Amino acid sequence: MVTVKYSLEEFTHDMNGLVDGNVDQEKLFDKGSGYLERLISNPEAVPERYRSPVGAGPRANHGSYLLHHGENGLLITAVVWGPGDHLGPHDHRTWGMIGILGNSITETRFRRLDDRQREDYALLEKDRVNHVKSGDVSLLIPDVDEIHQMDNFTDRPTVEIHVYGTDLRGLERSKFDLETGKVTHFATQRFNNC
Ligand SMILES: [Fe+2]
Repeated sequence: MVTVKYSLEEFTHDMNGLVDGNVDQEKLFDKGSGYLERLISNPEAVPERYRSPVGAGPRANHGSYLLHHGENGLLITAVVWGPGDHLGPHDHRTWGMIGILGNSITETRFRRLDDRQREDYALLEKDRVNHVKSGDVSLLIPDVDEIHQMDNFTDRPTVEIHVYGTDLRGLERSKFDLETGKVTHFATQRFNNC
């Protein structure tokens, strides 16, 4: 019997159906994470060239590749963390789903404890450390549970599929200094964010 693998095209079609259907956040995560689990169960879901770090430039050990961007805001990227790659605490300002296609990664989640009244200051508390592995999906919930730090402590690249409700390019977001509490606002032009 031939098993037909769930493709990136089918996933994109199904996600567009959810986004265009204006389903609520809970249903979107419920259905969408099921779609994403199916997609990442297929290691060939994204082309080989999107499963390695870029290998050059300021973040040679990292890769972020655009797979789909629609007018409804749906953004799908492949993100690769090379061995030792690290990204400090940051937020996303949109809903998100992250599925691990290959290997594993350490994701640290933070809770924000301050009243958010100061532009340049935030008090964060470590909430939990997740060792997410191939086949796992984690969710980013705006304002509730969306600040994380990523570390690849393994000796080989980790490949993820990221799905967001908004194009992250140009979106004003924040990164956080745990020592000083300083908040740095940033907006990126390319997919060097996640
Ligand atoms: Fe992120």
